[in-house]
Amino acid sequence: MGEKLKALRIGDMIAKIPIIQGGMGVGISRSRLAGAVAAEGGIGVISTAQIGYDEEGFEKDQAGCNLRAIRKHIKKAKEIAGGNGLVGANIMVALKHYKEHVMEAVAAGADVIISGAGLPVKLPEYIGKACRTKIAPIVSSRRAADIILKMWARRYDRTADFVVIEGPKAGGHLGFSNEELADIENIDYDREIKDIIECTREYGKRYNTHIPVIVAGGIFDHDDIIHALELGVDGVQIASRFVATKECDASDEYKQAYLDAKDEDVKIIKSPVGMPGRAIRNEFIKRVEKENQPVDKCYNCMKKCNPKEVPYCITKALVDAVNGDINNGLIFCGANVGRINKMTTVHELMRELVEPSEERVYSQDSKIHDIQNVYESMDKMIS
Ligand SMILES: Cc1cc2nc3c(=O)[nH]c(=O)nc-3n(C[C@H](O)[C@H](O)[C@H](O)COP(=O)(O)O)c2cc1C
Repeated sequence: MGEKLKALRIGDMIAKIPIIQGGMGVGISRSRLAGAVAAEGGIGVISTAQIGYDEEGFEKDQAGCNLRAIRKHIKKAKEIAGGNGLVGANIMVALKHYKEHVMEAVAAGADVIISGAGLPVKLPEYIGKACRTKIAPIVSSRRAADIILKMWARRYDRTADFVVIEGPKAGGHLGFSNEELADIENIDYDREIKDIIECTREYGKRYNTHIPVIVAGGIFDHDDIIHALELGVDGVQIASRFVATKECDASDEYKQAYLDAKDEDVKIIKSPVGMPGRAIRNEFIKRVEKENQPVDKCYNCMKKCNPKEVPYCITKALVDAVNGDINNGLIFCGANVGRINKMTTVHELMRELVEPSEERVYSQDSKIHDIQNVYESMDKMIS
């Protein structure tokens, strides 16, 4: 039999399948996608970034609509999951109402909170002491892992419940410089992953616990998952592949843009968040390359943003994209988007990721269920 994936244990919580569906804002991963992933036994993650973009009153009260939507989508995802898997929230540190998002996600019963786009220094304080929600920082280097784990140890005498490593092939905002990203083929990121695991183990030892490590960025198929597990991680986080699923919360036009994208359409772009991002080079990006797009209205998304200086309004660009205005929107994607060429369902995708490809081929033949038997009978025929 092929290699089966071991369940992911995070303290007293267990996900049968060690796959986290990465949070995707704005509105790409909400309750439908996250609930479907959890229903399959994985961890479905809602992105809280402007999650209330389609709530009534959003034009006037973004903060209120977002809090309402966080509660609504976590509850709905849990209903869809039907008691399977785990449901979490991805909350970016760069958000203006970061603390309120964290508190709302906890109150709504999020099983996990994953926080990146900055170091989530105060996350333990915001969730409070006797909180069942598990927390994870997103890091891209050993240095960042060491800084955040040291801070949590010093300030709160606690450590992370798990750590998410985001590599240079990920989608959305990236924790690397433009120079590093220009040369990703030459980054030995496996080495960095091993270093981050080693650093995390040291903190785990201090707290007499095992801190699971999850890796993200460019993971495409079962073999990529096995490779990551062989490096010593406990699970993987995958985002881009979940866009081309029936359950993904984005518009059909957004999903089609993923199916149409080729390797050469993928571009590292400047984002108002102040970090580089990876996106599809569409008409919108081509316009931004030539000149800044004036911002007429502020949607209060980030702590640090000067609407007069940024190249474009990131909320407007991301909301246009999720709604299907593909030429005027910003479509984030991972480095492997060019390889995504068919629509699927979360069930099929999870099955494809969990099972080795030979087993899938054979399981389609109703007479042959166990590939081991096939190999054994072939051996007998030869001998
Ligand atoms: C469309 C899109 C939106 C994303 N939005 C967020 C986000 O809001 N917050 C975040 O921390 N990461 C975000 N990410 C990163 C993913 O959660 C994930 O870690 C990464 O894309 C994994 O790489 P992969 O897409 O190659 O699987 C986004 C990625 C994509 C593709």
